[in-house]
Amino acid sequence: MIDLAVLRADTPGCASVTHLNNAGSALPPRVVTDTAVAHVRREEEIGGYEAHAEAADRVAAVYDSVARLVHAPRERVALVESATAAWDRGLQAIAFSQDIEPGDRFLVSAAEYASNVIPLLQLAQRTGGRVEFIPDGADGTTDVEALGAMLDERVRIVAITHAPSQNGLLNDVVGIGDMLRINGSPAWYIVDACQSAGQIPLDMGRIGCDVLSATGRKFLRGPRGTGFLVVSQRLLDEAEPFPLDLHGATWESELEFAVQPGARRFESWEKSYAALLGMGAAIDYALECGIDELRARIDTLAQGLRARLSEIPGVRVRDRGEIKTGIVTISAPDPAAIVAGLRAKGINTSHSTPDYARHDFAQHGITGLVRISPHAYNTDEELDRAVAAISRLLPI
Ligand SMILES: Cc1ncc(COP(=O)(O)O)c(C=O)c1O
Repeated sequence: MIDLAVLRADTPGCASVTHLNNAGSALPPRVVTDTAVAHVRREEEIGGYEAHAEAADRVAAVYDSVARLVHAPRERVALVESATAAWDRGLQAIAFSQDIEPGDRFLVSAAEYASNVIPLLQLAQRTGGRVEFIPDGADGTTDVEALGAMLDERVRIVAITHAPSQNGLLNDVVGIGDMLRINGSPAWYIVDACQSAGQIPLDMGRIGCDVLSATGRKFLRGPRGTGFLVVSQRLLDEAEPFPLDLHGATWESELEFAVQPGARRFESWEKSYAALLGMGAAIDYALECGIDELRARIDTLAQGLRARLSEIPGVRVRDRGEIKTGIVTISAPDPAAIVAGLRAKGINTSHSTPDYARHDFAQHGITGLVRISPHAYNTDEELDRAVAAISRLLPI
């Protein structure tokens, strides 16, 4: 159950700012900062390796927290430093272990995030493969039937951003997984859950993807510099990450090594255990609130915000799809100036630019957006203040 007063009391930043940039990096609950800082203090007191050894059980529990969040076995969870690192580790394993040939196809959602498209363009350049955008359907989300019609044995990778950074749409990652299965597609299925983790329920089994990547700092409200990937058994069976370090593999004899069982092979030896423990605390906090409850509250706030913004002359709400996330995007004259003007009034939002999702921006003729992303701890009064401030910042 969500109690707004408790949520806000748990979130010290609520006293200083109106934070509507949770799709950037959310305000953490106090327990997250306390957990991370306590570990740094322990490192100061007894040494980094010793503090890690002391926290071994709590570090192990972070894998269980991620596993509970995404409904996957803990052996399939790897902890890394960002969503991009997570996504990259999956692709690196696929690219290293599979023979990608000229004419092979990599299908991506139309609203795919730049850091997912760029490495696929690199891979295409090197192998003679090609990147193709899956068209959106009438509702503006990835068209599952159109994807089905594109599938053949040359499709080696399907990469879908669940909740894009620059639009409130939510792609049907379960329907896409079903479509791949029904067609018997050999493609590796990579889902970017960076913006959905913490605000949308995730079920790895139902999605049926090979790689699910996410970050700690956005809707999960963890520290910066944290992320995780969750992989399929198929990926573990058929793909080997490259390069492996002495944590992902053991050096057995001078010319032999053995890959570690489970997803640990996708990790590096060195980590910020303070940040990682902070992410664990953030996930536990979200699970205690209830992901369904967080989803419902964020959705109510975002819908109310869209309704109010759409009444402002000169503002156009750009979010697509029947089902939407907590990301609210508007086009208006000079979005950068609006974001700066709001910031000057203590209201945090962000400016989305085409370099984050070039295909999506070009397809809709958009050159810049104001992104307003509430979390469950935001209030209606804060949204009213933001809407009033946006109205005043517009040219008359
Ligand atoms: C949809 C999406 N994917 C991936 C990322 C990259 O996340 P990170 O900065 O944690 O690597 C972002 C960041 O904004 C994002 O919005």
